[in-house]
Amino acid sequence: MRIVLVGPPGAGKGTQAAFLAKNLSIPHISTGDLFRANISQGTELGKRAKSYMDAGNLVPDEVTIGMARDRMAQADAEGGFLLDGFPRNVGQAEALDGMLRGEGVALDAVLDLEVPEDEVVKRIAGRRVCRNSSAHVYHVVYTPPKAEGVCDECGGELYQRDDDSEETVRKRLEVYHTQTEPIIDYYKAQGLVVTISALGKVAEVTARAMEALQVDEAAQG
Ligand code: AP5
Repeated sequence: MRIVLVGPPGAGKGTQAAFLAKNLSIPHISTGDLFRANISQGTELGKRAKSYMDAGNLVPDEVTIGMARDRMAQADAEGGFLLDGFPRNVGQAEALDGMLRGEGVALDAVLDLEVPEDEVVKRIAGRRVCRNSSAHVYHVVYTPPKAEGVCDECGGELYQRDDDSEETVRKRLEVYHTQTEPIIDYYKAQGLVVTISALGKVAEVTARAMEALQVDEAAQG
């Protein structure tokens, strides 16, 4: 399957993507994670992206689209993928359509995670991420690690993202409403959008997502 996950910052896209990608046996491709990996490796792309991310703005399309295209061209994404954080504006959505058309394939669904803004703020304020793997995400209240500051999965150090400060989160939400939300209408016009509530326990949201995507139990990995 080829799926786009959309929702405000802190909606739980990364959390859900980890479970959905495993269930559907497709790679989880997060442009935010790709940027953060480039930043920690000190690449030119990472240096360029960091100032935009720290300010809560989108990284320019000419950087982002090429990076997403390169990742989607890797062998593991041949049979499908779950995109998290891309596309993030209508220009990126049009570029993605062009890439897929060129390959003779198409998206199957756009999964839209709905969460009230006050919940998003609480989720981001308590988020802690493992330095070893961005797939290991915790929340100090909702999904705490067994030992404070230590990843249950690999023992890595948990940290708070630089762009999770209150001021930057406010900017990221504004950018989401003005630049990213319009892609929902763009995809509605193609009949691709399924909207679910992302409230409730993580496993409940995953079950809701699988049902909304109408995934046959037998097709699950
Ligand atoms: P990105 O990394 O994509 O950030 P985001 O979209 O703002 O989303 P988040 O990662 O903040 O939240 P999430 O929805 O994944 O929530 P999570 O699962 O962690 O992008 C960062 C930046 O990179 C952008 O601002 C931009 O600068 C740049 N960028 C990235 N892609 C780009 C693009 N295409 N174009 C241009 N620029 C781009 O969950 C949040 C917290 O809630 C966690 O603590 C989690 O444990 C908790 N939680 C999750 N689910 C639940 C639940 N059901 N109940 C209780 N708690 C929960």
